[in-house]
Amino acid sequence: MDDDSVVKMAAAIRYFDLNTGAKIPSVGLGTWQAAPGVVGNAVATAIKHGYRHIDCAQVYGNEKEIGLVLKKLSEDGVVKREELWITSKLWNTNHAPEDVPEALNGTLQDLQLDYVDLYLMHWPISMIKGAVGFEQKDLTQPDITSTWRAMEALYDSGKARAIGVSNFSCKKLEDLLEVAGIPPAVVQVECHPIWQQPKLHALCKSKGIHLTGYSPLGSPGTGFVKKEVLKNPVVNMVAEKLGMSPAQVALRWGLQKGHSVLPKSTNEVRIKQNFDVFDWSIPEDLLAKFAEIEQERLIKGSVFVHETLGAYRSIEELWDGEI
Ligand code: A2P
Repeated sequence: MDDDSVVKMAAAIRYFDLNTGAKIPSVGLGTWQAAPGVVGNAVATAIKHGYRHIDCAQVYGNEKEIGLVLKKLSEDGVVKREELWITSKLWNTNHAPEDVPEALNGTLQDLQLDYVDLYLMHWPISMIKGAVGFEQKDLTQPDITSTWRAMEALYDSGKARAIGVSNFSCKKLEDLLEVAGIPPAVVQVECHPIWQQPKLHALCKSKGIHLTGYSPLGSPGTGFVKKEVLKNPVVNMVAEKLGMSPAQVALRWGLQKGHSVLPKSTNEVRIKQNFDVFDWSIPEDLLAKFAEIEQERLIKGSVFVHETLGAYRSIEELWDGEI
């Protein structure tokens, strides 16, 4: 196959369909670890280069700054609200049903929006209301069913146009589906070539739930992440063959596997590069090589497990053995 035919055959994969009828843009800007003072510029830069999906969360501590930028871009006529896909997430300290709408109201106020396109339960973890940081002494017993009921009410109210969960194992997702009146539209989890999540992918596909991959580049530079996706030999071999960067290959791999991706960057060159993943593709023979990559969950959530406090005594329990 010559280069021209690779380009011609490449499916753009700009959106994925959700069970709500909405279309989620396939590449979103991640804002985890994008520092206040920097994140606003990253969002504006991303939107300038064509991004329409911004992934936020209350706990990232930067929604106010993102809100200021969104408002300015809208006032300047750069982008209309209805052209954007904005996700945010319910933090662990707000799981009590009465706190859930209050938490979304706070996020909407910070983002200066009337609604979010997607609101996710950030973790299957509960913590004391008002707790700051990630101290294990603040862990409490989650009641996922009650929290989900409150999430469903947000969907009914129109303030969250889709609802979903994040950091759920297959087991926790199956348990939720048994009690949910409204099934989650999206499950957002760690997903990249070193943690491909085939079992969760299959479950989501069978239930009509969309999977979004966070840390699609393996979050290089994060202290506790020990393996580097962007240095993986398969990713680099494919990148060299296609003349693309390892980051672009990791992202395009995700799109071809059928999930949306949320690369975080605050650097204009890399923001632009990470969005150049639509008019080329990884041929099937090279895509098959990803199956050879040794698998390891990199974001283990160990701050949320404790022998006696909270719900999960070990990482194995948190992920129901899926590690
Ligand atoms: P920076 O913000 O300086 O660009 P993930 O999305 O998996 O969490 O990874 C985010 C990390 O990857 C950030 O440290 C970011 O740094 C870096 N990064 C983002 N895009 C690229 C790229 N195209 N090439 C190399 N590193 C990248």
